[in-house]
Amino acid sequence: MQIVLNTDKKLKVEMHLFAAYCEVTGKDKNAKVKLNNAHWPSEVKNAFNKAKPSAYFEGKKGEHFHLHLPSGESAYLIGMGEKEKLTAETLRKEIAKTIRYASSRSADLAIHLEDFILGKNLEKSAFVMTESMMMALYDFSKFKAAKTLPLKKIIIHTTKSEYKTSLLKEIEKAKLVADAVNLCRDFVNLPPNELNSEKFAKAVVKDIKAVKRVKAKVVGKREMEKQGMGCFLAVNAGSAYEPQLVHLTYTPSKVTSKTKHVALVGKGLTFDTGGYCLKPSTSIAGMKGDMAGAATVYAAFKVIAAMGLPYKVSCLLGMTDNAINSKAVMPDSIVKARNGKTVEILNTDAEGRLVLADVMDYTCDQKPDFIIDAATLTGACVAALGFEFSGIMGNNKVWNAKILESARAQDERLWELPIVDEFREDMKSNCADLRNIGKNLGGGAQKGAAFIEYFVKNNIPWAHIDIA
Ligand code: BES
Ligand code: MG
Ligand code: ZN
Repeated sequence: MQIVLNTDKKLKVEMHLFAAYCEVTGKDKNAKVKLNNAHWPSEVKNAFNKAKPSAYFEGKKGEHFHLHLPSGESAYLIGMGEKEKLTAETLRKEIAKTIRYASSRSADLAIHLEDFILGKNLEKSAFVMTESMMMALYDFSKFKAAKTLPLKKIIIHTTKSEYKTSLLKEIEKAKLVADAVNLCRDFVNLPPNELNSEKFAKAVVKDIKAVKRVKAKVVGKREMEKQGMGCFLAVNAGSAYEPQLVHLTYTPSKVTSKTKHVALVGKGLTFDTGGYCLKPSTSIAGMKGDMAGAATVYAAFKVIAAMGLPYKVSCLLGMTDNAINSKAVMPDSIVKARNGKTVEILNTDAEGRLVLADVMDYTCDQKPDFIIDAATLTGACVAALGFEFSGIMGNNKVWNAKILESARAQDERLWELPIVDEFREDMKSNCADLRNIGKNLGGGAQKGAAFIEYFVKNNIPWAHIDIA
């Protein structure tokens, strides 16, 4: 897909679908569709001018209307509500809807950027628009009979040519972000017979080769045994594939004593059967996505490195599947973690925290200033917050608040859940230092976090994001 910026005064290119912001002013009889379309070809402009609110189209937010013109061109009205109240999230949603509609109906689409200004920020509009377009065009079609969609070209049109350089920069940035999001989605969608831990690690290492200033290393089974990663190895015990700890480091071009080091940690379970505590058929399908934490932090890492941001960033991905064979770990087993703590495994389905426990200890040895982990850790988080929200927990209020604030700025739904001493206490075992599930009912998401907290060293600010 080609997304291009056009800064000609009038759009002369041969186009087929013209999309415009549509706002309704006045009420009842006086209701009028207000459109900004001065730069469209005259026939399209006339069609826009004739548009009236009707029983079929009231021009409300979320309402879209497609007018076919005798010339073969067509006008697409996007109901967006009052212009002054336009938010980034409305823009994202309505542009996505427009693009999905257009993708199967037109070879091209032109859209006028000034119609969609967020506050006074033309650059932000260009970013949000491009990001939304690319994410809306995502299609996991690898395993389907080949089908090509007609939409080939999108023109973002603006007459403000003085902004050309900065707009092009924003569009390129948005493409980088959206490409990474779509790569993350590809990893999550790949089925377990295509993506196992070994292939996942290889794919990540190969993918990051194109990005400068990044070093990649993979810790395999032998090395994990040497380092005493008994928790991670226990999860992998029933697998046909080696466990893999992918360790990526990005170093910015200028490093001073003030350069901060952030570690991004991801749960990378390429499939979670539940192990001997086997999941029922109603919840086992879909567990190919249990590596979404690893895919997410990898995508974030890639963007940070590709943009050359001035932070040192480490990315640690714990990959395995949770499978069953005669060697698979049995409930009641007691294993020793990398940090020396012993863990009683009472439920083999609480495997993510076991993998993260050893990866967390390894991560702390890299001496980061801050840590974020992302993991599809608990169904309890879904029960508490629904699928719309991720839960954030951690050991440092300030660090959590920063992440919550940046999530808010991106309209990402994130909600804080508390870790308290009672939850920490609940994760202590009678036979070992810790147990991998709580003794008492409830608070499942926070108890998972409380378990992981036992593996965070030196009180490094750490935030755990449960993205189940
Ligand atoms: N991968 C699951 C959590 C999950 C559930 C992810 C739903 C996505 C959607 C995790 O490994 C798991 O099985 N958690 C258990 C923990 C329990 C045994 C303490 C759960 O949530 O039931
Ligand atoms: Mg599980
Ligand atoms: Zn899992």
